[in-house]
Amino acid sequence: MMVIAELAVPVVAAPMAGGPSTAELVAAVGEAGGLGFLAGGYLTTDALSRQIADVWDASSRPFGVNLFVPDHANTYLGSVTERPRGLSGQERVQAVAAYRAALLGEAERLGVELPRPGALGPDDWERQLDLVVRERVPVVSFTFGLPGAAVLSELSRSGIETVVTVTDHDEAQAAIEAGVDALCLQGPDAGGHRGTLDEAKRPSTTSLTELVASVRSLTQLSLIAAGGIATPEAAAEVVAAGADAVQLGTAFLLTPEAGTSLAHRRALADPSLRTTTVTRAFSGRWARALTTAFVRQHGPSAPAAYPDVHHLTVALRRAAAATDEPELLALWAGTGWRGAEAVPAATVVAQVARSLPRR
Ligand SMILES: Cc1cc2nc3c(=O)[nH]c(=O)nc-3n(C[C@H](O)[C@H](O)[C@H](O)COP(=O)(O)O)c2cc1C
Repeated sequence: MMVIAELAVPVVAAPMAGGPSTAELVAAVGEAGGLGFLAGGYLTTDALSRQIADVWDASSRPFGVNLFVPDHANTYLGSVTERPRGLSGQERVQAVAAYRAALLGEAERLGVELPRPGALGPDDWERQLDLVVRERVPVVSFTFGLPGAAVLSELSRSGIETVVTVTDHDEAQAAIEAGVDALCLQGPDAGGHRGTLDEAKRPSTTSLTELVASVRSLTQLSLIAAGGIATPEAAAEVVAAGADAVQLGTAFLLTPEAGTSLAHRRALADPSLRTTTVTRAFSGRWARALTTAFVRQHGPSAPAAYPDVHHLTVALRRAAAATDEPELLALWAGTGWRGAEAVPAATVVAQVARSLPRR
């Protein structure tokens, strides 16, 4: 089934891990004719399974599930020879330990114990793949890596449309060669994490419109464009460049259906927060967030060590949320955050769709 090519309204609600994506948001966007995504990142398989069941209960429209690809399943890392090398095992442990030491003051103040480097749980990758097949999820998108051709073809055989997030021409080529059904092209203005297939690589700064045009010259696959789309005009521009649909994250953060925390909602509307920054401070992977004191202080020294840095800072962020200290939260936001409005998700879909061709 080709869901993306046949959407009544070519607007996608981005998967947003860490709370904002909810079954309610996904169902509302689907009912409005667009495509909503659940975010599997950071969720246990059981929690994701409950969210999928909730979407099936609330709506009969197609929807998607997004999964983070762990390094061991990321075939892009083996396929590229000419790329800057990341930290070696020992360097990584030392860099994470140094970053941990830099955060100890904040942790003590909040009464939080920071985990020791290396104390990571196993990921749920295989179980999440089994789940999306078992539950017949219509669309599955991947970020942070390129699953192998065998995984992609197994999902396709199960009737699932597969999407891989890429951030440059080379990554798009690799995903096409692996046999993906559609691509999510993410530009530099995107809120949240860059979906770069190799965390050691500095993410591309090529504009989203240029990226769409260059990948369109490579392939006829469905292309979803994401990153900083905050107006109908911006959506129309990437569609004119060759995108089949637009994906928005930040624009949905203030909708009542989203699970965005109160502190994050307040920060998005706070006039004293004036800029966004692409930082590794929270997770060890580049991501765009509102520029807070934490970002300014710790961003420059944060190592390229995802998910170790994520696990290091997560307890700190939970404690900050409990004590309502937005400065320590990962306030993900794209460059168009000022355009986000507290209106129903269906209104966001309709507003963006105004300038797009209906099918
Ligand atoms: C709060 C937040 C969480 C996000 N989480 C994910 C995620 O779990 N998986 C993913 O593929 N992309 C994630 N993204 C990135 C989006 O897929 C998308 O690329 C981005 O939101 C587009 O830029 P925009 O926010 O300016 O619309 C997230 C973005 C935000 C703002």
